[in-house]
Amino acid sequence: MKTIIELITEEVKQAFVQSGFDEKYGTVTISNRPDLCQYQCNGALAAAKQYRMAPMKIAQPVVELLQKNNIWSEITAIMPGFINITVSDEFLADYINQMRKEENFGCEKEPNPRTIIIDYGGPNIAKPLHVGHMRSAIIGESIKRILRFMGNEVIGDAHLGDWGTQMGLVIAGLRQRKPDLVYFDDSYEGEYPAEAPFTITELEEIYPAASEYSKNNPDFREEAKHITYLLQNGHRGYRAIWNHILEVSITDLKKVYQRLNVTFDLWKKESDAQPYIPDMVQYFKDNNYAKISEGALVVDVKEETDTKEIPPCMILKSDGATLYNTTDLATIVERMKLFAPDRMIYITDKRQELYFETIFRCARKTKLVKEDTELNFIGFGTMNGKDGKPFKTREGGVMRLENLIKSVTDEVYRKVLENRSMDEQEAKDVAEKVGVAALKYGDLSNQVSKDYVFDVERFTSFEGNTGPYILYTIVRIKSILSKYEEMGKKLPDDSVILPASSNYEQALMLELSKFNEVMDAAYKETAPNRICQYLYDLADAFNSFYHETKIIAEEDEKQQSSWITLITLVLDILLTCIDLIGIEAPERM
Ligand code: ARG
Repeated sequence: MKTIIELITEEVKQAFVQSGFDEKYGTVTISNRPDLCQYQCNGALAAAKQYRMAPMKIAQPVVELLQKNNIWSEITAIMPGFINITVSDEFLADYINQMRKEENFGCEKEPNPRTIIIDYGGPNIAKPLHVGHMRSAIIGESIKRILRFMGNEVIGDAHLGDWGTQMGLVIAGLRQRKPDLVYFDDSYEGEYPAEAPFTITELEEIYPAASEYSKNNPDFREEAKHITYLLQNGHRGYRAIWNHILEVSITDLKKVYQRLNVTFDLWKKESDAQPYIPDMVQYFKDNNYAKISEGALVVDVKEETDTKEIPPCMILKSDGATLYNTTDLATIVERMKLFAPDRMIYITDKRQELYFETIFRCARKTKLVKEDTELNFIGFGTMNGKDGKPFKTREGGVMRLENLIKSVTDEVYRKVLENRSMDEQEAKDVAEKVGVAALKYGDLSNQVSKDYVFDVERFTSFEGNTGPYILYTIVRIKSILSKYEEMGKKLPDDSVILPASSNYEQALMLELSKFNEVMDAAYKETAPNRICQYLYDLADAFNSFYHETKIIAEEDEKQQSSWITLITLVLDILLTCIDLIGIEAPERM
């Protein structure tokens, strides 16, 4: 279904052509003076230059032609040559009645659906999740849902970091604590125990402690490095520990992601890409893509047009060791082989931008991907504390993600109990849903690349542009609908939305009619904040309408069922949009 702007633009373009002007001047936009009109066309001003005429002399005949059409309530040419447009209430009502009938509310799907891999989350095994991982997870989850909504085949991959030196550190740390474990006995040939020799809590203590200890103890650091090397080369005992670490970590990670309403289709690991490395390196050498530079194997990725220095992409260190780069390139090989994606999107902190630029160039130059495979990097900004610096715990440490979530759900719990009577269990459930929504909305309502301030009070407020406000609106609509049902009423099958009966209703309908445009923008720009902004505008328009309209007390059945139909559509669209940003509404709050 065409967007409402497209429909209006078509009419206006036609009138430009019939008046003897180029159709390109008939482009319509949303009005920047909503007090005067809903839409506007400024084409006459530009056309004036081409045709050497006064803009009014162009706008006037166009408007006269358009006035014959009955889809406007008002269309006027005003000085110096703007065309101000307000559509008729009948046209608007017809449009949203049509939206109700169509799949996805008439939002046109991608005409050429593609297979897209999103690499997001990116947690590291045995290291606690922090805020950066949270941002990647919730932004990626939303982008995945948006791309999918538009009809693409989307595969979300957590891309676990399980291959770095942190593994050696953890194993060395474990050895320090429990040297007698059978895994450390090189003469042991039997089966290793099925149960892990540590809990997740212990595991999460080991890494930071070992990492700290290694800073001042070169011997320990060397040992960890050596263990990493042995592990990567198949040491039996270390492999067995590593498997335990994977299992314990993944079980725990899944719990946190579930709380955040984030789910991955794939739990691929950096280690899964390792088998592809030898052939890839050979291929780079055979095709003269790679050269030796200061002992290391590198691929040059500089381009003449570069304005900044782009370092070469290192494939093997001088000692033959592989790097994060090597793994990422091999992962591309693996993905092309297993899924042949048309597009890959990586979502990390924007500080990794140059890194990914290098990887993408290398993958293109060496033809690991097809010419038309799109590679995108989406870098996000930092979550800051109120002091404007990267968010820390009160003690100045890195905030564990679970504690961060808890600080928000606790605040919501307090607010819920303060205002309503609810039993403890329900209050807890509500606080969990609303708290997570507050956190996610607080994040996603910002442009992805921007830094933002984590502000519990603001995020959890039930008023303003917040997650709780959106959920509150949803709960309110649900409660009106149940009241209507409790009165023994039911919408007739052929219920329709009548033309607006007030300015508030008109404004609400206008917001509804924008859904397609918003989705289009959110999709093309991969921008969840577009959806948040729309949620807020729509919720706000609904609440203004609601305060001015006595829906339940209305005696005219036709009018009442029109309103019920209207707010049902508002509810459906709100629910669709919150699902796209990965949040859920409670039944009450
Ligand atoms: N594990 C990495 C980190 O914590 C993020 C991984 C991003 N994805 C990738 N393919 N490199 O920084």
